[in-house]
Amino acid sequence: MLIAKKWIYAKAFSGYPTAENFRLEEETLGELKEDEILAEAIFLSVDPYMRPYMGQYPVGTVMIGGQVAKVVKSKNSKFPEGRFIFGNFGWRTHTICNPSVGDFRAKPYVLPDFGEVPLSLGLGVLGMPGNSAYFGFLEICKPKECETVVVSGAAGAVGSLVGQIAKIKGCTVVGITGTDEKCEWIKNIGYDYAINYKTQDIKAELKKAAPKGVDCYFDNVGGTTTEIVRGQMNTFGRISVCGIISSYNEERAKVFDPQRDFVGKQLKQEGFVVSRWNARWMEGIEQNLKWIQEGKMKYRETITEGFENMPDAFIGMLKGVNIGKAIVKV
Ligand SMILES: NC(=O)c1ccc[n+]([C@@H]2O[C@H](COP(=O)([O-])OP(=O)(O)OC[C@H]3O[C@@H](n4cnc5c(N)ncnc54)[C@H](OP(=O)(O)O)[C@@H]3O)[C@@H](O)[C@H]2O)c1
Repeated sequence: MLIAKKWIYAKAFSGYPTAENFRLEEETLGELKEDEILAEAIFLSVDPYMRPYMGQYPVGTVMIGGQVAKVVKSKNSKFPEGRFIFGNFGWRTHTICNPSVGDFRAKPYVLPDFGEVPLSLGLGVLGMPGNSAYFGFLEICKPKECETVVVSGAAGAVGSLVGQIAKIKGCTVVGITGTDEKCEWIKNIGYDYAINYKTQDIKAELKKAAPKGVDCYFDNVGGTTTEIVRGQMNTFGRISVCGIISSYNEERAKVFDPQRDFVGKQLKQEGFVVSRWNARWMEGIEQNLKWIQEGKMKYRETITEGFENMPDAFIGMLKGVNIGKAIVKV
């Protein structure tokens, strides 16, 4: 008999999450049925989407989320014992599931061979955030050489990769992020300019960093930052709307009227949900892995030790403690 630990959404979020929103419980797991596997979590992801998405679930649900897990028992030949998988199993240490059942979100996949790089990257650059950067930037912004690209949330899981892909494509890249340490780091990984949105005048700094205006904007944050960047976009600029984290913990988001810039500058803006590229998922992972192996892409993780610390890791990520991808190691 195996006891799984799981984090329950104990109280509805209101503003920033706190410890009282979560409750740790145990669950006794039974025997495997035909085609089922038992997966043991090794690394778990804490991501911004969990904050708004949990609003769709009733209190008492297991917290949603992805994990890199090891198949420890298997009655499914496609998922042999010992293999490492990615699964959206939620915040739980052990899971029994039939990996062939359900929609794309429910179905785990066997991770490709990462070679020398850590398995935890299956939650970051070699997983959903990496593919958000790869597809969300290249397919929507369609950057051209010598163009100027601005990235908000630039030191995070997605943003830190978008800037590097923009450099690979020959662009000038400006990153906007929340601490001086993050500004230093993004310049170390290739960003040409870094702006600290908490201490600097974004409008004035962006004018200096992008004197010819902005051609592409990859937006992770929304709000005031986005209003300022949009004001400095060039005619026929492209905006990829990845996320709006500045509003996730607000009870009421401020509303701006972006229409003037859209009409006057004939901008193109497109939002995306990364699952749009499910059919090409492995292409993103393989390309990002290749860039890492060629030394063209750097990654960073902020790893919290211990399953019992998942709420702290989640709250910390929403408050900007992480540089690169926020991960929990069981
Ligand atoms: N569309 C999709 O399919 C998709 C997929 C993945 C992610 N996303 C979105 O992409 C964005 C980034 O996700 P991620 O996983 O890469 O997270 P992340 O950037 O690694 O972590 C979140 C970061 O957001 C920043 N932040 C927090 N509050 C902020 C605020 N009020 N204003 C500006 N920045 C704030 C913090 O950095 P600072 O220190 O810089 O403030 C924090 O470190 C999120 O909006 C997420 O929802 C969308």
